[in-house]
Amino acid sequence: MSSQASPNVPQTPRRATTLSTLIKMKQKGEKFTCLTAYDACFSSLVGEAGVDVILIGDSLGMVLQGHDSTLPVTMDDMVYHISSVKRGNRGAFLIGDMPFMSYASETQTLENAATLMRAGAQMIKIEGGAWISSSTHLLAERGIPVCAHMGLTPQSINRIGGYHVQGRDPRQAQSMLAEAKLLEASGASMLLLECVPQKLAKEISESLSIPVIGIGAGPDTDAQVMVLHDLLGISPITPKFVKNFLSISDDGIRGALSAFVQQVKNKEFPAPEHCFD
Ligand code: KIV
Repeated sequence: MSSQASPNVPQTPRRATTLSTLIKMKQKGEKFTCLTAYDACFSSLVGEAGVDVILIGDSLGMVLQGHDSTLPVTMDDMVYHISSVKRGNRGAFLIGDMPFMSYASETQTLENAATLMRAGAQMIKIEGGAWISSSTHLLAERGIPVCAHMGLTPQSINRIGGYHVQGRDPRQAQSMLAEAKLLEASGASMLLLECVPQKLAKEISESLSIPVIGIGAGPDTDAQVMVLHDLLGISPITPKFVKNFLSISDDGIRGALSAFVQQVKNKEFPAPEHCFD
């Protein structure tokens, strides 16, 4: 057993990050950081490094469970990991992913989102464009903040046919911009863009007043998110947008997490080699 305090006992409490903190950061042009975590120990370390937002992502199906997609992840899995992260949380804002098919109908959407909020999420994330605007509206009206995930949406991998950049075609780019605006108008409190050309991500971020988080979406989104295992260089695959921060750390995992925070805040990450045209 380590001599350090248990991760579920906050040592140096930091002021808790809220949705309004993140909106103010966007308004001031201050970048914020988001990392995935799936357990209490990493939740605590990530918060200690100053990461603003923790995403309990359904990427856990790939990086923890060894599946080749996020589709097998269940509501029970999400509740287990969200409640673990909540116990270790040191003030980060917690977003929980709604897993595949858990928001297929209105009733499922409301019940499952409520279950994740009870487990400790402060916002839920759902994948899709215009078609999720009615769910977004339902949830927002009932006090559940929604992050809409657009661009490459891994739960639709069998329809998309591969982990490709989305929005290179000018017509697709125009429709993504229109859908992002519709989602904001429907009550979404945040947008996440995955694998989108940097020019389009910039245009969407500048067109919306809600914060936009990017992964493989260039440097101009309001925030950057990474999968923890990618940052540590232990994922089985390494997409172009990934940077191994552990390899540049002189203080192990803690140094890698702090380097991510610093490099996002001072706009060193993502660099041109991590972006798509
Ligand atoms: O599940 C996840 O970790 C995600 C990120 C890839 C953004 O959705």
